[in-house]
Amino acid sequence: MSSIQWEDFERIHVVRKIREVIGSWFSVDILLVDDQGKIRNSFKGDESPRANFLMKKVLNNDVGWEYLSQTVEKVNSQLMKSNLRFHEFVFLPTVEGLAIPIVVDEEYFGAVVALGYRKDPSEKAGSEYLAQAKVLGFSEGEAQEAYRGLKNISIAEVQYFRELSELVAQEIVTLHKEISSRDNRIEELNQQLGGRYRYESMIGKSKPMQELYALLDKIKASESTVLIQGKNGTGKELIAKAIHFNSPLKDKVFLPLNCAAFNDNLLESELFGHVKGSFTGAIRDRKGCFEMANGGTLFMDEIGDVSPAMQVKLLRVLQDGTYTPVGGTEVKKTKVRIVAATNRDLKTMVEDGSFRQDLFYRLAVIGITVPALKDRKEDILLLAEHFLAKSSKEKGMEPKVLTKRAIEKLYDFDWPGNIRELENEMERVTVLAGTEKFIGPEMLSSRIRESEDRPKVQGARLEGKLKDALENLERDMIREGLRRTGWNKSRLAKELGISRAGLIMKVEKYDLDKRRLTRPLGKTGTEDF
Ligand SMILES: Nc1ncnc2c1ncn2[C@@H]1O[C@H](COP(=O)(O)OP(=O)(O)OP(=O)(O)O)[C@@H](O)[C@H]1O
Ligand SMILES: [Mg+2]
Repeated sequence: MSSIQWEDFERIHVVRKIREVIGSWFSVDILLVDDQGKIRNSFKGDESPRANFLMKKVLNNDVGWEYLSQTVEKVNSQLMKSNLRFHEFVFLPTVEGLAIPIVVDEEYFGAVVALGYRKDPSEKAGSEYLAQAKVLGFSEGEAQEAYRGLKNISIAEVQYFRELSELVAQEIVTLHKEISSRDNRIEELNQQLGGRYRYESMIGKSKPMQELYALLDKIKASESTVLIQGKNGTGKELIAKAIHFNSPLKDKVFLPLNCAAFNDNLLESELFGHVKGSFTGAIRDRKGCFEMANGGTLFMDEIGDVSPAMQVKLLRVLQDGTYTPVGGTEVKKTKVRIVAATNRDLKTMVEDGSFRQDLFYRLAVIGITVPALKDRKEDILLLAEHFLAKSSKEKGMEPKVLTKRAIEKLYDFDWPGNIRELENEMERVTVLAGTEKFIGPEMLSSRIRESEDRPKVQGARLEGKLKDALENLERDMIREGLRRTGWNKSRLAKELGISRAGLIMKVEKYDLDKRRLTRPLGKTGTEDF
């Protein structure tokens, strides 16, 4: 099992959400701790927002940091030695914490540590705390403020956030397993094929992307027609190339053709060629794409823009591999693999009659739906850093670094233009930043900078709507999970640690039935025709 990627976990949408809930409802801070007892998601002097004043202060002075590090180290070694599912500990008199182990295949990897709450509201407890707060390097005023900022939490509430913290640990385990199995698989394949095989150009570790890689792996040996559907800038062309260059035809031609760039007449002669004299200006015979790509792959981009008249002609060539050049009489044969792509919803077009159903079925022998970027937010940082590195390198600059706040903004934005938009944005900020190494939120385009924060849990008070907040979280997790797993309820139930029947009940409760949701672009996989 490969070593754990701590930096990745802070990027998991669900982990961030749970932290948000725990932070705003319980004022409890979450630390990720590795198997050596080192804190991995925070550092001395870390000024990022914390759930309580105590943590903020502890992180920002040497004495406090030292005390925290030692406590966490102790907690870690206790957890590691035990088989406990969780471990409650006292940080300072009446200031408590909770640690949940991260265990993958019986191997201990570290812990999720929730820190900073009180269970004893008595005055006596308060004075015991004050007497000892010096060990955190606090002044008396700071000690009092820190104390006031901590929540009194009942046993039932501890139970709540214990479950939430367990979810954080579970999500980490799930992602870690996925990443390592994918890494292992790539390693194996590389060994088998001497390093030639890889979807090198494709970045993304999220579940939808892993499903996409798995699908690409599956169709690697085939020469079937493929239809790639996805919104603008999601990477359809990149996928088309990956399909060709990993297929048995990889040493043959890959010919891209943008169908939307031509009117009918031109498209016809582009595709099928024409004979001399067939129209004014046809001064010699011209080969069409079907002839030029013979034996290889023809990538028909924007296939949804082809007129009904052209659809008929395409259907013929797809059905029996024959066509007639414009102005010609001779019937020609061709053997070309077709990979088609569109950002339109062809199924709807079939329903409203603007796209032929028979052609649709011919094209969608293998159907791929590319996830939108907003449905795989885990990949945003990875992609952003990749594009930053690329554009810095092109300009001969040192790689730029995104600040935490800028990253937050990238996460909160919905990216209607998908990967291309992110790529352009990173190129833009590289230029804007000049010699500046750090990219802050102020450098981002206004629409991104001003994007609404994802609805946060309202209010920090415990009474009232905690149940709603948790239900919201649960609904979001299930909704995202369903999309990610392509509505595979058994798998999702396993991931969420609930029974399949339990999941089905919740799907009904939250009205997340597939038919009710708009057709998800997040779904990746062969369509079931
Ligand atoms: N997974 C990925 N990893 C890295 N770069 C990507 C990825 N997917 C797409 N890109 C990059 O994003 C840009 C847009 O991709 P591409 O042109 O393939 O999208 P598209 O779906 O064909 O877009 P459109 O619908 O606008 O034609 C390209 O520069 C491509 O290299
Ligand atoms: Mg394209």
